[in-house]
Amino acid sequence: MTYSAVLRPRWTIKYVLSAITVSYFAICFLFDMPFFSSALPAYTGEYNVGTIDIEVPVEKRNISETVFKHGGKPAFELETVLFSLFYPAVKDARSQKPKHLWFPKPIALQAEGYARLAKINNFFTNSLFTLGLWTLAGSTSIPAAVDVPIHGTMKTYQNYETEHPVDDYGLPEYPLIVFSHGFASSRTDYSQYCGELASRGYVVAAIEHRDGSGPGSVIMRPDGSTTNRFLITAGELDPTPETPALKVMQLAFRQAEIEETVRVLRQINEGIGNEVFKTNARKEGKDLAEWQGRLNMERVVVGGHSYGATGAMQVLKGGHTYERPFVGAVILDPGKSSGPLNEDIRVPTLIIQSNSWSKAHSIFYGRPHFDVVKDIARKILDESHIFAWFVTSKGTTHPSVTDAPLIEPLLLMWTTGSTIQVREGIYQYVKATADFMLYLKDGHRRGILSEEVTHPEYDHDIRNDARKASMPKDIDKYWQIHVAPTTGCAYPGLCGVEHDHAARPPW
Ligand SMILES: *[C@@H]1O[C@H](CO)[C@@H](O)[C@H](O)[C@H]1NC(C)=O
Repeated sequence: MTYSAVLRPRWTIKYVLSAITVSYFAICFLFDMPFFSSALPAYTGEYNVGTIDIEVPVEKRNISETVFKHGGKPAFELETVLFSLFYPAVKDARSQKPKHLWFPKPIALQAEGYARLAKINNFFTNSLFTLGLWTLAGSTSIPAAVDVPIHGTMKTYQNYETEHPVDDYGLPEYPLIVFSHGFASSRTDYSQYCGELASRGYVVAAIEHRDGSGPGSVIMRPDGSTTNRFLITAGELDPTPETPALKVMQLAFRQAEIEETVRVLRQINEGIGNEVFKTNARKEGKDLAEWQGRLNMERVVVGGHSYGATGAMQVLKGGHTYERPFVGAVILDPGKSSGPLNEDIRVPTLIIQSNSWSKAHSIFYGRPHFDVVKDIARKILDESHIFAWFVTSKGTTHPSVTDAPLIEPLLLMWTTGSTIQVREGIYQYVKATADFMLYLKDGHRRGILSEEVTHPEYDHDIRNDARKASMPKDIDKYWQIHVAPTTGCAYPGLCGVEHDHAARPPW
């Protein structure tokens, strides 16, 4: 046999596929990972975590008059708002209901959405891994107990200690985070980040936007009727918008959904949770009446990732209102292609970029994206005299804060070049967010928030040896700090307050 005859039959499709399969299983085995997809890990904070899906009707309105060419139906008619609540739950509560699937049914709906996406969007071709991810992750469920009572209700009241302010009955009020997802995502895509925060004593409302930027979502009405909302492309619309105009409509739609989410949360806090339950097309929230007075409406923070970060920045424009009562913002990878970023921000803000986003030099409205983001943080700090941070999470990539890397760690490592341990990646985001929430509570700067600038530009380290040596190992290992207030001041202008390196979350 000649050399080539030995080689040639090997390079058949069959050979290549079996080689890939064998390697995949070998690697799973070596790294002790389940074949196909990883289960999501249990949350690590002090509280058990509950989750409730809420979809309730809103005052029906057209956010834009634009209609679909096919059929003439309005494309941006807001009918309902949908979000998943993640919250501190009573200890050891057993749910009567099965866990929520990470990939909500019907899978075919999202599959069609992705097929549409494949035709029009580069994001998809750059991120083919998502397809594999979703085909593999069909049975993954979210490890939060479905529809169990909130921690510390009158029914379940036990003696416990809490850091949170308490209501008239001595029950804790939990601060809120309203979270907006990125392009081609849904409410479940950040379940680990949201669930981890809930296990640390925060109520997180993860919205699912129906602005036509997600792959597919079912709009459910209380009467049981449904409409499928797919990804919307400009060509389907009449009049056909330019891309920037489409984004303006989508962001306006997202803003309306954020405001409606706040409205529903207020109702729950005002004690009419039972009405919310009755109109909830998702049929969850049987104990919502118990949530009266349990949400700290004075401490509502808006957060978002990518397109959602752009949306979160937009809703801060014009400052605090009844509809948008946000006292802080957590901005993760503010969109590179989701329209201009709002600079009118008057609340404490934490901007975290993934390593791959800070590292890549991309032009954003004529300037490097990094500089635009940095200037926004500086403007909040220097002009508004409000605390703002801009940091990079080392070793991470754009999807690191989503559940994707937890479910398919290898795929993500291969396709996006993420080098950080996946759980560690998410924990660092959770820790920074929790430190920020605590800063809003007491003005003390903890963790990365207690440090000054380390890298004014990406990878440009200005620390001397002494400072490097004195820095906590975790911060040195996982972060670059581009914008931060000078230390020694808890609140701007109020210097000399001791800062608190010691008080750190439990992990
Ligand atoms: C939205 O617009 C459509 C026509 O484009 C109209 O039929 C519908 O009544 C409008 N909805 C509301 C709530 O005004």
